[in-house]
Amino acid sequence: MAGSELSPAKALLLAVQLATNANLSALRTLVSQHPKTLRTEIILRILLTHLPESLESSEYVPFIQDLIARNVVEDSASPIDASALEDLSESAASKRARKLHLLPLLWRSAPADAPADPLTQFLIHRSLRIDEITGLVTQIPDLVVPFIHHSAYLRTWMISTVLPLLRFNYEYHPQDSANMTLSAFGKLDNQAGIAMLLSRTEGLEENEKNVGRDLRGLVGPWMYGDTRLKRRRLEENSSSLIARNVEPLDAPDPDTNEKCASWEVVFTWTTEKATDSWKTVVSAVEQWDGPGDVDLGGYEDGTGWLEEEDQQHLERRYARAALACAYLISDDSMDALLGIRRILGRIHTLLDLDPLPTLEVAGALLSPVSGIESLLSPTNSGFLRGGLLEEGNVLTTPNESSIKLLHALLVSAFLIRRCELRTSIRLVGQLVLLEDERDQKYEFEKLVQAIISKGPQSDDRYWVRVRNELLWLRSWGAEELTEGASVGKGVFGKVPKELIEVALLRGLLSNNRISLARRIYQIAPERPIPHETLQETVLSEAMNAYDNATNANKTRGGLKKCDDMYLRCIYQTEFIASVHRRLMHKADKALVCMPSPRHWNTLGVTHTLGKYSLYFKHGEPFKPVSLRVHGDPISIIARVLELNNKSYTRINDFINISKGMVLAGLTFRTTIGLSTIFKKTVEQVKEQLVIAEKRVVSMCVDQALSEDDFETAYSYIMTRLVKIAGPAQERKPHHDSINGLFAELPPKELDEWSWRAALQAGSYHRTEQTIAPTHLGNSSGNPMIRHLEQRMECLSLALRLAPKAALQSILNTFRRCEEELESLAKQEAEQEAAWDAQGDEQAMPGGFGSALKTTVTKSSRAEEGPMSLFDLSRGAISRAQSGLGSLSRAPATDSSIPRERKRDQLRNAAVGTVAAGVGWLIGAPAPATHE
Ligand SMILES: *[C@@H]1O[C@H](CO)[C@@H](O)[C@H](O)[C@H]1NC(C)=O
Ligand SMILES: *[C@@H]1O[C@H](CO)[C@@H](O)[C@H](O)[C@H]1NC(C)=O
Ligand SMILES: *[C@@H]1O[C@H](CO)[C@@H](O)[C@H](O)[C@H]1NC(C)=O
Ligand SMILES: *[C@@H]1O[C@H](CO)[C@@H](O)[C@H](O)[C@H]1NC(C)=O
Ligand SMILES: *[C@@H]1O[C@H](CO)[C@@H](O)[C@H](O)[C@H]1NC(C)=O
Ligand SMILES: *[C@@H]1O[C@H](CO)[C@@H](O)[C@H](O)[C@H]1NC(C)=O
Repeated sequence: MAGSELSPAKALLLAVQLATNANLSALRTLVSQHPKTLRTEIILRILLTHLPESLESSEYVPFIQDLIARNVVEDSASPIDASALEDLSESAASKRARKLHLLPLLWRSAPADAPADPLTQFLIHRSLRIDEITGLVTQIPDLVVPFIHHSAYLRTWMISTVLPLLRFNYEYHPQDSANMTLSAFGKLDNQAGIAMLLSRTEGLEENEKNVGRDLRGLVGPWMYGDTRLKRRRLEENSSSLIARNVEPLDAPDPDTNEKCASWEVVFTWTTEKATDSWKTVVSAVEQWDGPGDVDLGGYEDGTGWLEEEDQQHLERRYARAALACAYLISDDSMDALLGIRRILGRIHTLLDLDPLPTLEVAGALLSPVSGIESLLSPTNSGFLRGGLLEEGNVLTTPNESSIKLLHALLVSAFLIRRCELRTSIRLVGQLVLLEDERDQKYEFEKLVQAIISKGPQSDDRYWVRVRNELLWLRSWGAEELTEGASVGKGVFGKVPKELIEVALLRGLLSNNRISLARRIYQIAPERPIPHETLQETVLSEAMNAYDNATNANKTRGGLKKCDDMYLRCIYQTEFIASVHRRLMHKADKALVCMPSPRHWNTLGVTHTLGKYSLYFKHGEPFKPVSLRVHGDPISIIARVLELNNKSYTRINDFINISKGMVLAGLTFRTTIGLSTIFKKTVEQVKEQLVIAEKRVVSMCVDQALSEDDFETAYSYIMTRLVKIAGPAQERKPHHDSINGLFAELPPKELDEWSWRAALQAGSYHRTEQTIAPTHLGNSSGNPMIRHLEQRMECLSLALRLAPKAALQSILNTFRRCEEELESLAKQEAEQEAAWDAQGDEQAMPGGFGSALKTTVTKSSRAEEGPMSLFDLSRGAISRAQSGLGSLSRAPATDSSIPRERKRDQLRNAAVGTVAAGVGWLIGAPAPATHE
């Protein structure tokens, strides 16, 4: 039976069979023989239902082409063999033909606007089935593309749905493909579709290279045409509750917005990535020219798919998104800043601006920033925090102002980051826009700290550069634009310029760049900081070096540094010279006894102290800083005397040290040290100098005594202390009339050291350890007598100076000396008589021994004796002391006659007042009747 004789039912059944067997050549013959029965649409449905989906597209595309062209001709090589249908009755054939259940051409869930054209429907439906049943998406282009010119719908579908998924799964991310059918993919809304397409773009380093490719080759096609847009509209019209995923924009033309809304999802994606995956974003901006930059696989028809107006709008939006990314990149590394530089460079290119210099070059040029004034306002700081993509955000509005501002912020951040301080565009932007002085100062201090902690920098060029940078950060070059502009507008615009200069000066000094410091701050005619401030800064920096020193030697380490600053910065200036002159002029020359300037400061004092062995109670060694922080630096001298045997003999050295301390301001207990001395009155300084000398002489006396060197102690008292010592307390005229109605104020302490030293010497008892005098002069031959006389002289001085409360015990000691002296004199007389009688030369040592014994016995007896004699009223004490004054001022003499006279004077002075004694007033036992 030949094919042409078949009934329509049998032809239909045979066509199904041939399709099932993929026998297309036979099918051609059959179709050509039965054009009425086997109409195109029926054949397409048969193919759709029965042609194996795994069949390669090329096998049947030519047939479909011919079919559509109504050009199916008999294939003579493939005659029809209908023998299999011979046994089938016509009625059975009709019945079977009716039950064929051919698939409809329109695919399930096709959108309402799907085209009515059977071929388009067939191709799409066939593609979906191939994908669903075999997953062979790669076959689809071969099937669809030959017909792509046939329907715009088909073209759009091919480009926007097949192409992205195909590329995603087979070309771009074959190792990591998405498990998604074409049908499911086609149903995704914008947000989900773009998220899916970009889901492999971020994260991996190698993928960052491809972000441009992904935007161009995946997102670009996805955006092609407006199928989704139409679908969304239809769905909205049928009140479908699909939430719109793009915020409405304020742009003037709603149509443009509508069309471009899909791209907003991409812009939003980009800005979101800026915070967690900044490299992706930088690559994106760098590799992708924006919405016009798409790769449609050559499937497009050559006509522009975006209108000019839309294109421009999208480019502006893209530029805004790129600017937004620069602000949103929160990574604080230098790499991130270089990335932002790349973004900005791209913006320059895209907007046809002059090429951008590298950050290194921009950081060296430090060009003045202009044309940004309209943006500099604290109210604009809110734009940093959010809504960066919003049309109203002036910081991301792509025009010259915003781009210049971003560049200035970027260069600033770069300079800061180069000092190893973490920062970001947003942080720098906040400093600039908020104009908060405290924040700016805080960041400035941090920056200075960072500069210092970079370690010593011994290159002057480095410091010149740092200075230029800091000043530029403050003003952004405003000085160069406006003559004498003192208010900065940069990152540290509110930080006073002087503060910046002082910080730099400190940096220079602590890095030993003293010549440079002088060149900039001292010699240059513009004088960046006031003279006073300059001095203060150098001094305090010198003190820092000083405090950091571990060794008291001026020719080494911190002290040398300190010394250099003094000598080269301070002393060489006319300022110090003037202070020096002023002091010389006003101060009493005798008092100031102007030491050489090198000793006229802490440094000299420290250096001199450094010659001695010195450590503190717990063994910690002396460091220069101890001197500065010590509450009572002069007391350190006592420690030196204690630790260095015989050092008390170098009393002049120590007096100079103590005066140096005063002149260095150390005794004024200040934290800034030296500088304050210039603010003290000359009277204060004089007073302190006198106190210092008294204290040091007293210390030397004490130390000499404790080293059993009574002779030296005595000579210090008689040659030095006597000249400078003063009364221990202020002596007010006595007012009897007060009658105890008002409590008297305690007397003012004046000199608590001299009388104690004198008393200490006066109380010294000779022992065998006592160093013998080097020469006895022409004094009395008996050393015991001489010693007692010396003690009494010391006691007389003590009596003259001591506070009332101490007088009695001094007088007691004096009386015991006197008694000893009398007994010694008697003994001497007896011995002389005995010598005369016996001529015994051996008596001397025995006499010495018995004299000692006498001292002890007399002392204990004296304590038991009546005290009333010396119980003096306050009035009596005043009188006694004035009487004693003239007595003690008389030069010490060894002649015994004046000695007797002095003793009498003393006794008279004391005793003469006893009649009127009111000793009970000062708590003494009731006076016994005397005389
Ligand atoms: C196609 O069918 C014809 C007749 O129906 C048969 O002769 C031929 O062998 C078939 N070709 C293939 C490849 O099956
Ligand atoms: C892909 O999806 C199918 C069905 O949705 C599931 O059975 C299969 O496990 C998935 N494969 C992968 C790799 O996720
Ligand atoms: C840039 O845009 C902002 C905000 O619209 C505006 O204030 C500024 O003047 C513009 N600058 C230039 C140079 O057009
Ligand atoms: C303090 O001393 C240390 C070590 O001696 C030194 O490294 C440091 O730079 C000094 N600091 C200053 C401020 O001089
Ligand atoms: C200070 O140091 C220098 C050099 O190291 C040394 O020559 C000198 O003797 C030292 N001076 C003192 C007092 O230690
Ligand atoms: C200082 O004198 C004391 C007591 O006299 C003695 O123990 C010590 O060794 C002396 N020190 C030195 C360094 O001479």
